[in-house]
Amino acid sequence: MPGVPHLMTLADLTGPQISRLVNHAHYLKQVSLPWLAPQRQAKKNARLRMPSQSLFNKSIALIFSKRSTRTRVSAETSAVLLGGRALFLGGEDIQLGVNESPRDTARVIGGMCQGIFARVGEHEEIEELAKYSPVPVLNALSSLWHPTQILADLLTLHEHRHLFDPSSTGPSAPNKPLAPLRPLTIAYVGDSANVLHDMLVTYPRLGHKLRVASPPHPMYQCPTPVWDRVTQLGCDKDIWWGSDPREAVHGADVVVTDTWISMGQEAEKAQRLKDFAGYQVTEALCREGGANPDWKFLHCLPRKQHEVDEEVFYGPRSLAFPEADNRKWTIMAAFDLLFGKWDITGEKTVT
Ligand code: CP
Ligand code: NVA
Repeated sequence: MPGVPHLMTLADLTGPQISRLVNHAHYLKQVSLPWLAPQRQAKKNARLRMPSQSLFNKSIALIFSKRSTRTRVSAETSAVLLGGRALFLGGEDIQLGVNESPRDTARVIGGMCQGIFARVGEHEEIEELAKYSPVPVLNALSSLWHPTQILADLLTLHEHRHLFDPSSTGPSAPNKPLAPLRPLTIAYVGDSANVLHDMLVTYPRLGHKLRVASPPHPMYQCPTPVWDRVTQLGCDKDIWWGSDPREAVHGADVVVTDTWISMGQEAEKAQRLKDFAGYQVTEALCREGGANPDWKFLHCLPRKQHEVDEEVFYGPRSLAFPEADNRKWTIMAAFDLLFGKWDITGEKTVT
């Protein structure tokens, strides 16, 4: 509906708008967790502070047709801290996809709730929800995009910037913007799926280089609608894409992977395990490929052993669990600005 803001992918935002969201997440995290502030001696069991009441008297529908741990829990707990509530509507609970179209569902739920956070199968489903919803729709993962994951990855990289740049200090104070990250080389080894796609449209615009390796078969290459957005945004000039994982990790400060078998692809498991042989992220692969000796590791989770071995996943290079924690603060930032303030782009904010 005209005038209603939505967020389908980070390609919908400019680089500065993405940075504003990440900064807002940093602020919400520091304000909500009293024990993070060094001047306060709050006990670990202190209540979290409510950083904003922007969802007061608002209900947010969580329409999830696929499983979720991090995204769902982040959403439900964020709504509470913003003074509102979330309704979890799983695939077995509502008529969507069985007896009712996305169009009718959007009209009905949008009439009762003040925001829709939706995890769908095909990306077209969430576009359809957004087209007919009278309230903002935020993508919680679709076949093509996973915007809130990359917001969490960015916050995690900023929080750990001292690992990439010894001249920088620890985390920024809550009332100060996050210090910039030095330009990084980020390698992704694995499937061309939703997580990678939001990386492709985001990192180059924030000054980072991306190196990707996926198996050569056409089914593991970037889908045309995604690559069109990558090129429209001018991101392609900072992306190297090949099929050799060793070449991809060359010079990498950060190595990222995702499952080889995304939700809904379970029937392709045997073929995929064959096609991805040799793509597992290991110490040996990164050493042989010439990654930066201090490389760090990111993974959206849930993780399977196929794509990364135990040594890397549970080792000192892994930022996967801080990254998981940051799903909450970045989703909270998106809820506050999109559902609470209808100002995801910052256009309404008076500076
Ligand atoms: N990373 C992520 O989206 O995890 P969940 O599927 O558990 O939400
Ligand atoms: N590519 C994965 C991401 C899970 C968070 C999937 O779609 O299942």
